[in-house]
Amino acid sequence: MKKTIVLGIETSCDETSAAVVRDGKEILSNVVASQVKIHSQYFGVVPELASRAHIENINWVLKQALENAGLTGSPDLIAFTSGPGLMGSLIVGQMAAQTLSYFYDKPLIEVNHLEGHIFGAILEYPELKPPFLALIISGGHTELVMVERIGRYNVLGQTRDDACGEAFDKVAKLLRLGYPGGPLIEKKALKGNAGKIALPRPYMRGTWDFSFSGLKTAVLYYLQKNPLKKASKQCPDVCAAFQQAVIDTLLAKALDCAAKFGIKKVAVVGGVAANRTLRRAFDEGASWANVRFFFPRPGFCTDNAAMIACAGYHKFRYNPKKSSSAIKICTVDTKLPLRNW
Ligand code: KG4
Ligand code: ZN
Repeated sequence: MKKTIVLGIETSCDETSAAVVRDGKEILSNVVASQVKIHSQYFGVVPELASRAHIENINWVLKQALENAGLTGSPDLIAFTSGPGLMGSLIVGQMAAQTLSYFYDKPLIEVNHLEGHIFGAILEYPELKPPFLALIISGGHTELVMVERIGRYNVLGQTRDDACGEAFDKVAKLLRLGYPGGPLIEKKALKGNAGKIALPRPYMRGTWDFSFSGLKTAVLYYLQKNPLKKASKQCPDVCAAFQQAVIDTLLAKALDCAAKFGIKKVAVVGGVAANRTLRRAFDEGASWANVRFFFPRPGFCTDNAAMIACAGYHKFRYNPKKSSSAIKICTVDTKLPLRNW
C-alpha cells in the first residue's frame, strides 16, 4: 500500500515549524525555529514581532524540512495549524500551506492546535488507543479532554483564567527570570525547598476546570511582603513552592478525573508537560493510582509541526472529503475550539 507523506506547518505562536511525517508515525524531518531570543526581553510573546519573525523564518524552515526528509517527489498532503493562536502568526502558516497545496496540487488539511498537542502523544506512542484522557497544559490552554475515539473529543474542563504555562511565564516575570518562564522556574526550583512557602492549591472542586491566576497573585503578594534579597535562597524557594502547587493541582485533577471515568490512560501534552519534576511526580502518582501517564518527549510537548502532520494524516484518513483545495480560502481562528471531526 502506498505510504502517505504529510508536510505539517505550525506557526500559531512563537515557533516556526515544518515537518515531514510518513503514515502519521515515521518522522522524516521536524524543524523548529524558536523566537525565544526576540521575546525574552519582554518576558512574553509580542504578537507583532512574532508574525514578523514567522515571515522571516517560514521559507528556510520549509526548505530545511523538505531537504532533511530527502523526498524524491512531493508530499501527498499539506496540514497546517488553523487556530487557536495569534492571528498574524497563524496567517503566515496558512499562506505557506495554501501556496504549497496549490503548487503541488495536493489537498490541504486544517488542524486545531490543541488537537495537534494530543497527536503529539499518539506520535510518540502509536499504541495509545482511545478512550484516553488528555491533559493539555500549554502556554495558552489548560484542558482536560476525553478522547473518545480519534477525532471525537469531549472537553471536560478548561482554565477559567490564566493557562498553566502562562502562570509559569507570569511568575517568572515577577521574579525577573526571563521567558519562557517554565524551564527557568524548573531550573531554579531544583535548588529550592517547596515546603518553605505556603501557596494555595486551586483544585476547583466539583468541576474539571482550572484557575491559576489566584496562585500567581499569591506569589505576587508573597513577594510584596517579602521582597527578594540578593544572593538568598528565596528565589529558588518561591520557584519550588509555585511549581509544586501547580503539580499537585494538575495531578490531583487528572487522577480524580481518570478515576471518575474509569480511565487508565492519560496523555499529558503541551509545553508544561516537558517539566521533568512534574513528570516524576506524575509517574509516582500513577503507580499508586494504577493509571499510566503518557508523556511525549519534550520536543513533542512544546510546539512542533510533527504533531500537526500526524493529526492531519489521521484527519485525512478519517474523511478525505473534508480536506480542501488551495483555492478555497481556509479560515484561521484565534479562538478555534476543539471540535469533533
Ligand atoms: O505548547 P507550547 O510550546 O505553546 C503553546 O501552545 O502555548 O507551551 C509553551 C508553554 C510556555 O508557557 C512555557 O513556559 C511552558 O510551556 N513550558 C514549561 C516548560 N517548558 C515549556 N513549563 C514548565 N516547565 C517546563 N520545563
Ligand atoms: Zn502549543
